Amino acid sequence: IEEISRELKSALHQYPNFPQEGILFEDFLPIFRSPDLFNKMIIAFKLHIDEKFKGKTIDYVVGLESRGFLFGPTLALALDAGFVPIRKKGKLPGKTFKANFSKEYGEDYFEIQKEAIPDGSNVLVVDDILATGGSAEAAGRLVLACDANLMGFLFVMELDFLNGRDKLQASSFTLLRGQPESLKEGK
Ligand code: PRP
Ligand code: MG
Repeated sequence: IEEISRELKSALHQYPNFPQEGILFEDFLPIFRSPDLFNKMIIAFKLHIDEKFKGKTIDYVVGLESRGFLFGPTLALALDAGFVPIRKKGKLPGKTFKANFSKEYGEDYFEIQKEAIPDGSNVLVVDDILATGGSAEAAGRLVLACDANLMGFLFVMELDFLNGRDKLQASSFTLLRGQPESLKEGK
């Protein structure tokens, strides 16, 4: 996993002053342009999951709109699990659970379809980056509202200094830990 992480980290592309002045944006999209790197990323997550949840099955991977959709379904397939999206407000048909969270510019909410996850399912929540933890914590509430087992959270990157992980309802794993200095400056 360490070896793969190093390779993936070196593929990240840094954009200074995006989306705002003073923020250094770490773009993980180059990983997806390479089938080899994309595959390695999925393998690294799977290695971690097999080790951490030995003997248990993961029934669903829940991905957060938008960037959690880029690899959540692929990871779900690799785990022989289903994929369920959590979407931003007003996008999902049918009955939904809703969970508020705070963003830089006010409140927003996430939704999940009520019938998407059967009671008692083992669920992992995935997203690209853990920053303040507001999005992931709201996602955790939605999984718990489905009466599912929230097994944990998976992220590609994390801004450690924001301590987002302290907000989460279950343990989290971040693939690209020990980030380059640059990652510490912003998301
Ligand atoms: C970003 C990122 C995470 C979230 C992390 O998404 O992709 O989902 O913010 O921030 P937090 O830990 O402080 O909640 P964003 O809402 O910008 O939207 P996107 O994924 O649709 O681009
Ligand atoms: Mg996002």
